[in-house]
Amino acid sequence: MDGPVLQAGFIASSIQHNKSFIIMSLQTIQTQAFSDQRPGTSGLRKKVQVFQQPHYLENFVQSIFDSLEGFKGQTLVLGGDGRYGNLEAIHTILRMAAANGFGRVLVGRDGLLSTPAASCVIRKYQAFGGIILSASHNPGGPDGDFGIKYNTGNGGPAPERITEAIYTRSQEITEYHITDDAEIALDKIHNFQLEGMTVSVIDPVADYAALMAELFDFDAIRTLFQSGFRMRFDAMHAITGPYAKQILEEQLAAPEGTVINGVPLSDFGGGHPDPNLAYAKGLVAEMFGDDAPDFGAASDGDGDRNMILGSHFFVTPSDSLALLTANAILVPGYSQGLAGVARSMPTSAAVDRVAEKLEIECFETPTGWKFFGNLMDAGRVTLCGEESFGTGSNHVREKDGLWAVLFWLNILASHKKPVAEIVRDHWAFFGRNFYSRHDYEAVDADAAHTLISGLKAQLAELPGRQLGELRVAYADDFGYTDPVDGSVSTGQGIRIGFEGGDRIVFRLSGTGTEGATLRVYLERFESDPARHDQDTQQALSDLITIADELAGIHRHTGREAPSVIT
Ligand code: G1P
Ligand code: ZN
Repeated sequence: MDGPVLQAGFIASSIQHNKSFIIMSLQTIQTQAFSDQRPGTSGLRKKVQVFQQPHYLENFVQSIFDSLEGFKGQTLVLGGDGRYGNLEAIHTILRMAAANGFGRVLVGRDGLLSTPAASCVIRKYQAFGGIILSASHNPGGPDGDFGIKYNTGNGGPAPERITEAIYTRSQEITEYHITDDAEIALDKIHNFQLEGMTVSVIDPVADYAALMAELFDFDAIRTLFQSGFRMRFDAMHAITGPYAKQILEEQLAAPEGTVINGVPLSDFGGGHPDPNLAYAKGLVAEMFGDDAPDFGAASDGDGDRNMILGSHFFVTPSDSLALLTANAILVPGYSQGLAGVARSMPTSAAVDRVAEKLEIECFETPTGWKFFGNLMDAGRVTLCGEESFGTGSNHVREKDGLWAVLFWLNILASHKKPVAEIVRDHWAFFGRNFYSRHDYEAVDADAAHTLISGLKAQLAELPGRQLGELRVAYADDFGYTDPVDGSVSTGQGIRIGFEGGDRIVFRLSGTGTEGATLRVYLERFESDPARHDQDTQQALSDLITIADELAGIHRHTGREAPSVIT
């Protein structure tokens, strides 16, 4: 739908401020709805060109404000991952926040805030909510993606009730409010007034770094680095560069050069800022090469994801969550014990067995961080994670890349053993969940939906069926009832579970911006330590074959192989 350009309704009003009168120049701009503003797994994510349509961003921002109640005079937190379009969007949102009646906006210097840092700032200053500009791990630049999401006062992604209200509003919107254009300086830490609203430009790192120092044993980690421990942190030219440099190299005395690709660039240096084996190639080559460092890690575009590597060793995110849970006792911020843990449905069940041993609750939620918030607010969950390189805790209400890295450093400083040995010891005790995700990116959307419908049609007759060596124990389309507020989410992915604990999950991505992305999640439990050193794809090979036979992946998508295997 075309964005209309009618401009109308100039309202001039005056308010008393600082004992003098300021003329407030509010414009009400007429607009028309765009049909495609339904937020996905994590906010509204589209190609930059889509966001560049006149009124597109403004419509969505006004729809957010129109869906909220009671924010007049309150504080909003604002920042983004620095991708192409970030600063312009920040300017627009500041003018709209002023015109809509916010009292104050806390904005990161240069418009920057990592997603976990934004969550931290919202909570610390008891803000009404926050707007984060990010398309996470999706590529940036003029031909890349842009995104925007709203977080509530608990610091977490808005629940579905709010994202749906935003969408509904976006479908009926006819006007938005914005102040006149103004000089806005975001390159230094200062306060200024924007038409009666206070804008506070804050250090994007300081509050977050202070929180990390409360949670982890910084002295022990410093001693580890001083003992010659070598680490590489790949910031992928994204938001975590300044955070990692300050925390790792300055506060924890890691040698200079520990952080690589540490300068945020608006196109992430042309890379794909997703910390996995496919996209963090340079880091992976170093960690699997001669003279590899002891520990390697990477984070994504907006700083909420993490990848953990040892020398010649990759830790799956599902295993990482299980490891953090089992070792939380070693970390000051968690040594008092964990209330419970949660994992998204497609994440492996490795953490379930640790929770069982610790006799704490373990929840299985739909994909997306927003489902963890209620459990954490209710005090039922301390740690949580997703297979998609996301791990976090109740210290904020977002997943947190650097937090996971510091957690691992704290564990390594206590155990004084290599990463690989710590993980193998864990498997020997708890058993190993071989795990892999196969992504078929940018496939034809109709073909993908036909494939999922085909699977749904088979669900009723699958239980009890023998597929190769395996017998199906259950088959369903995952639904979740939030144990805290009773809200129900259906259609969250096809689960096929086999006797013995093996599992295949199929779902379509809710964050992609091109066609559809089919995700196939494969999992096999192995208790025998003698079999723990098999190659993952080999260990899962019969499940891979069954997945293709059941879903007709090749037949529907025409693809011979996944685009990305993690
Ligand atoms: C993906 C991940 C999911 C994560 C989300 C936001 O969503 O799979 O775990 O919460 O990104 O980072 P998807 O594209 O699968 O809907
Ligand atoms: Zn992210």
